[in-house]
Amino acid sequence: MKIISIVGARPQFIKAAVIHRALKKYKEVNSLIIHTGQHYDEKMSCIFFEELNIPKPDYNLEVGSGSHGLQTGLILQRLEKVLIKEKPDWCIVYGDTNSTIAGALAATKIHIPTAHVEAGLRSYNKRMPEEINRISTDHISSLLFAPTKTAVNILQQEGLSSRTVFSGDVMYDSILFYTLILKNNENAYEKIDQPFYLATIHRQENTDNKKKLSDIFKALSKLQKRIILPLHPRTKKYLKSYNIDVAANIQIINPTSYLHTIHLLSHCEKVLTDSGGLQKEAYFLKKPCISLREETEWVETLNGNWNQLAGSNINKIIQYTGDYKLSEQEKAFGNGKAGKIIVKTMLKSKNVLL
Ligand code: UD1
Repeated sequence: MKIISIVGARPQFIKAAVIHRALKKYKEVNSLIIHTGQHYDEKMSCIFFEELNIPKPDYNLEVGSGSHGLQTGLILQRLEKVLIKEKPDWCIVYGDTNSTIAGALAATKIHIPTAHVEAGLRSYNKRMPEEINRISTDHISSLLFAPTKTAVNILQQEGLSSRTVFSGDVMYDSILFYTLILKNNENAYEKIDQPFYLATIHRQENTDNKKKLSDIFKALSKLQKRIILPLHPRTKKYLKSYNIDVAANIQIINPTSYLHTIHLLSHCEKVLTDSGGLQKEAYFLKKPCISLREETEWVETLNGNWNQLAGSNINKIIQYTGDYKLSEQEKAFGNGKAGKIIVKTMLKSKNVLL
């Protein structure tokens, strides 16, 4: 049996690593990886493959950056050729990026069964490119692996129950696996003595809007706390073009690898982010999170003040970094065996099509 994982952006490398580990246990499976090339910088791509021990991609479509249409279109065009040649039994797409929707479209149009890992997430904000990508991918894929019960319910409301499986969250599997590895390699990363917050900003809705990006940096400057901020290349570009001042308490560093991020996360006091993945990782590691977004797909993280939605509002960002009473967390993201469940389900679901 041949299974092809289609990946392209940072969070997908992490999710695919979990599936790859689970697939390795099955000798009868020939597992290939296609990298769309959506992320191509050393620190946005290669480093993840090395660190997460994922084999080099079998194909790299090298689409690079561009507008949504251009990026999605190029992936479609180049991917279709490879899929026709390889004739896989399954394709797997992950999350909600342009590589996800292009992968699902290319595969399903030529009748290759496609599994969507991290299905059923909704922000109900269709101005986010990711929301369009998620909805479309869910509605054309053959198997939908939902990370939470909320996601299962959403898929049910959209009439997709028969294809939905509650798997739990592969990111939860991943953090359990890698925090153990990090514990045994405590000296691999810098020791940070001074208390700090960890921040990341890369969402189009924040970076491509001068007022929002300036307000976020104003708020961060007022927090009177050291803030470590691994900087996404797009945010770097916009900070420069908008001429935004970066205050002295904000320490900008290069984009960090997955393990380095987990290291920073485990040592920080709080997290400020517009990333969906980091909101959840903060929750897993019990760090209060201030989301620099108006809504979240990961509604479970909002319970008990673990995550608060501040958007780019200066007052809210400052207010929510205050100290709140945190309550017991619910176990909403599965049992750390999502990878196994996904692979097992796919292997027994032969000849599934819509
Ligand atoms: C993409 C996903 C987003 C995900 C994020 C993870 C979409 C629509 N968005 O956003 O959901 O959270 O990946 O990081 O697919 N760039 C580089 N080098 C790179 C990659 C990007 O310089 O290796 C710069 C380019 O200027 C590019 C911009 O970053 O135009 C945006 O990159 P892109 O892949 O289009 O989207 P992300 O913002 O990374």
